[in-house]
Amino acid sequence: MRKHYPDIVRWPPIVRQFSTVKPSVLITKRVFPEAVELLRQHCEVDYEENNTGLTTDKLLERLRGKQAVLCHPNDKFSPEVIAELDGIRIIASVSVGFDHLNIPAATEAGVLVSNTPDVLTDSTADFAFTLLMAAARRLMEGSALLHAGEWKGSYIDFMVGQDIHHRTLGIVGLGRIGQAVARRGRGFSMRVLYSDPVRAPEELERELGAKHVPLEELLRESDFVSVHTLLNDATLRLIGAEEFRLMKPTAIFVNTSRGPVVDEEALVRALEAGEIAGAGLDVFEREPIVHPGLLKLPQATLAPHIASASVDTRRKMSMMAAQNAVAALEGKRPPNLVNPELWTRLAGPKGA
Ligand code: DGY
Repeated sequence: MRKHYPDIVRWPPIVRQFSTVKPSVLITKRVFPEAVELLRQHCEVDYEENNTGLTTDKLLERLRGKQAVLCHPNDKFSPEVIAELDGIRIIASVSVGFDHLNIPAATEAGVLVSNTPDVLTDSTADFAFTLLMAAARRLMEGSALLHAGEWKGSYIDFMVGQDIHHRTLGIVGLGRIGQAVARRGRGFSMRVLYSDPVRAPEELERELGAKHVPLEELLRESDFVSVHTLLNDATLRLIGAEEFRLMKPTAIFVNTSRGPVVDEEALVRALEAGEIAGAGLDVFEREPIVHPGLLKLPQATLAPHIASASVDTRRKMSMMAAQNAVAALEGKRPPNLVNPELWTRLAGPKGA
């Protein structure tokens, strides 16, 4: 294990200001070219352009001598990995989620962590609704039938699905993305319920037309349940066998947050047993591995973790991560800090 340098060694403000040596950054997977360009204006860039991802050993090897890293959700920065970092000032993740990074360990080690919030809110909400609608109206089943050349014609109960309009939408977690999904629900004249440990201000509830209810009530009453929580100790397997049993047999379950928020085995059993009617999933417990049970079920609409994958949004995420890294390397406060308490420690209350 490497020893942790005191902040003054990792963050030597005077040396940094007058040094002519450019800092070095590692990019662990492809990002949009504008972001690489920006980094090249400020740093030496070690760019892993292939998209397979680095093993932990390779990651640590490539991080030697670097001061920043642009990483992706598949790069796991456990406390053990963080303890090996030497001279890294910032881990700038190209994602809003930061469950792949151990924040307390990074803070303790004097490493800033940033993410890419806001820019992906609407794209992710759009996609949650895409999954919800595709699952409700059996779009993928219909499409597969046509691709297989098996459509023989229509009849009254051919491929009938669930209506969306005027139904009840249950949102688990009313953060930025949950709120954006609520707005879309209102656009479809849906009744919107939400559960969240923290109740939203009345004004926001009014604007969204959303009613705060306990999770159990939300599960019992909703026609669509859409999950939008962070992944942490409190939300790990938040939705399991008990929760699926509470849902309506006609309900559709949507997850665009993180796979481990759901007990995938229990979800497969609930779908197989007809405890719920369908699912729309963008995230899985062991990505990129998908539970084989889900692959066999036509009522499971599956996507390969692409909720934020629009050209504009992914470009903005790339740029945001690069800007966070550049700020940290210039001794400025990165705009999207996940551990602001470390910045306060480094810069003092005035710099916070
Ligand atoms: C995120 O930004 O966290 C999305 O899940 C994309 O990885």
